[in-house]
Amino acid sequence: MLPKDYKTQVLSGEGANDYARYMRTDSLLALQRSPDEVVHRDELLFQVVHQSTELWLKLACAEVETATAAIREGHLEQATSLLRRAALSVQLVTEQLEMLRHLSPWDFQTIRTVLGHGSGADSPGWRAVQRHSRALGQAFGALLQERELNLTQMYQDGGHNPVVTLAEALIEWDERVSIWRVRHYKVITLIIGHDVVGTQGTPVQEVLTRLIAHRFFPELWQVRADLTRRGPLGADQAAADA
Ligand code: HEM
Repeated sequence: MLPKDYKTQVLSGEGANDYARYMRTDSLLALQRSPDEVVHRDELLFQVVHQSTELWLKLACAEVETATAAIREGHLEQATSLLRRAALSVQLVTEQLEMLRHLSPWDFQTIRTVLGHGSGADSPGWRAVQRHSRALGQAFGALLQERELNLTQMYQDGGHNPVVTLAEALIEWDERVSIWRVRHYKVITLIIGHDVVGTQGTPVQEVLTRLIAHRFFPELWQVRADLTRRGPLGADQAAADA
């Protein structure tokens, strides 16, 4: 038998080699404005952070969508591991916001001139996160209802249960999105300040700080508060509530 020729490219498609053909690197790397198109060299940094966020969120949403279907079919462990992947994707896009620290507030004023009314508020990835999270919350709510489960009680019973593990994965997903919003708000205030409006006319401080408090699954967070009321110091809370 002849030795395998690893130098031969075997895939069809665009690109000089199999890596380029499978990963579609020619198309991918042509998606950023070229040096002769840009008004500021840091547009590359700005586009790479945004475009890679869209990719990670594409993955996150695919995982949330399949996790939702898995919950409907009763495959709770599969749903939990897919949600963990989705949460990690959001953690990674949160970390990459750090790169925007390297954008000078004055240089960004030049970049802003070519954005039109474009804003991350129209990000397809973040819009899909909203949509898929709603469906996820509904599927989990239906599961609790069908099985007549009392989640608060299950936590009190030790929480060693696939439903509680899944609830924790939902909470983490919700929390990760919120943490992204906190970091995003902080980055905005570093770069354009707080008492200004964005490229879509949104008052930064007023609207974005309100969004930080948003919860996809308020019932799950309520379980935490209920446990505090039921805990050994619950009487203190009851006095504060009165
Ligand atoms: C220089 C960096 C950034 C600045 C100055 C900035 C600024 C803003 C501003 C001012 C808003 C309010 C809406 C408006 O534009 O009027 C906004 C919203 C938003 N931006 Fe950014 N942004 C930055 C980076 C990013 C990145 C990397 C993403 C990732 C795709 C992103 C996604 C969003 C989303 C999803 C919203 C809607 C609000 C929310 O859901 O919390 N932004 N941004």
